[in-house]
Amino acid sequence: MAGSGAFAEILDGDVYKYYADGEWKKSSSGKSVSIVNPTTRTTQYKVQACTQQEVNKVMEAAKVAQKSWAKTPLWKRAELLHKAAAILKGHKTPIAEALVKEIAKPAKDSLTEVVRSGDLISYCAEEGVRILGEGTFLVSDSFPGNERTKYCLSSKIPLGVVLAIPPFNYPVNLAVSKIAPALIAGNSLVLKPPTQGAVACLHMVHCFHLAGFPKGLISCITGKGSEIGDFLTMHPGVNCISFTGGDTGVAISKKAGMVPLQMELGGKDACIVLEDADLDLVAANIVKGGFSYSGQRCTAVKVVLVMESVAEELVEKVKLRVAKLTVGAPEDDCDITPVVSESSANFIEGLVMDAKEKEATFCQEYKREGNLIWPLLLDHVRPDMRIAWEEPFGPVLPVVRIGSIEEGIHHCNASNFGLQGCIFTNDINKAMLISDAMETGTVQINSSPARGPDHFPFQGIKDSGIGSQGITNSINMMTKVKSTVINLPSPSYTMG
Ligand code: G3H
Repeated sequence: MAGSGAFAEILDGDVYKYYADGEWKKSSSGKSVSIVNPTTRTTQYKVQACTQQEVNKVMEAAKVAQKSWAKTPLWKRAELLHKAAAILKGHKTPIAEALVKEIAKPAKDSLTEVVRSGDLISYCAEEGVRILGEGTFLVSDSFPGNERTKYCLSSKIPLGVVLAIPPFNYPVNLAVSKIAPALIAGNSLVLKPPTQGAVACLHMVHCFHLAGFPKGLISCITGKGSEIGDFLTMHPGVNCISFTGGDTGVAISKKAGMVPLQMELGGKDACIVLEDADLDLVAANIVKGGFSYSGQRCTAVKVVLVMESVAEELVEKVKLRVAKLTVGAPEDDCDITPVVSESSANFIEGLVMDAKEKEATFCQEYKREGNLIWPLLLDHVRPDMRIAWEEPFGPVLPVVRIGSIEEGIHHCNASNFGLQGCIFTNDINKAMLISDAMETGTVQINSSPARGPDHFPFQGIKDSGIGSQGITNSINMMTKVKSTVINLPSPSYTMG
């Protein structure tokens, strides 16, 4: 059970502690932040409301710890990460339980998230050993005007203190996708979890604690964004920010100082369906891509752009599959569970009402109870409807019927987002041409968008983000190149 057994020390009464300097602590603020269960809509957990002074202390400790961590042999860093991965997987049940209660993720998916995270940490340790164990050696006489008098040795060194801010929808997985590359590369790590998902994150951090990482190297600070959000992201002690989330990321990138940024900020992933596509495959992928975790994935299919001639048949096939989705509590492992908050449900409802006023075709009746919204397919959506462009982050999927491939590409590229997209066709030549024309970080051919496997590159353009993720890219991003040049008194080839 969350907060018990191996995790008993992270809880004080009914408030979870924060993690700093290798210890679980109570905030001097004496205040807490409540985490509302999306299903029951009552307070499920409480976490410490940390103060700015506590942030300062964490930053100081992170700076000190990083200096000696960077000198710790790479194989030892990898060894500790493997240990943390094993401990995390060994405690998947209580961590998954927290995910179910905090973010209403279906029970099986919650377990999968924890296991996937353990695998990510291990893979990162292995990859880090390989890519950080290599450097480059250059000689000067390849550049015009130079003799062979200079040898340049370059390798990758850490950036310093990495600030990691994951989102509510994958609080554990998208936290470790930042923590593991930062640590293997010799950085220290300050984690600011999302409020919903904070308790799962605190449990995950305890697994790193149990693995025996040096004190101060990892910390987890909880609290109100209004109190410590800007303070953290603008803190002079931060040397890199890795953020996944929504519009807040745009604000962070405007305020952050001269530090490398890794930002993943939402998407409006288009699914372009050509006339020759296998419509059963398309329907299965639309339902999986559009409705898994109730559409609360940045990579969810968020608009279907289907050729008019096959639209009727496709919509019928999708409707049949939507009718089979189970709707209810995450504990019962339902397909569709309550969305994360009441404000999120209200926002989704606003998009639905706009589509209703503008006469989209409702393939199902709109139904909502609290934060639970039944899956809804909206057909005949036109560009003047908000749902054609905005990201609902909920179980509502618009279908836009198109008269040509060009129209589909145009709709995709007119979006402010550019995360992923997908194309369904049996013509690989067409698929490649469309993929090249789509302004997105990734295009999937004959499958719905997805970030994983976690070692694949993952990046958005436009309002979808800055930089590239995936294990290798994240390790590289959290390092910088350091060179040492050996200068010889005379060209090396004059000897002998
Ligand atoms: O919500 C954003 C995540 O990066 C999506 O990850 O494709 O594994 O669901 P996923």
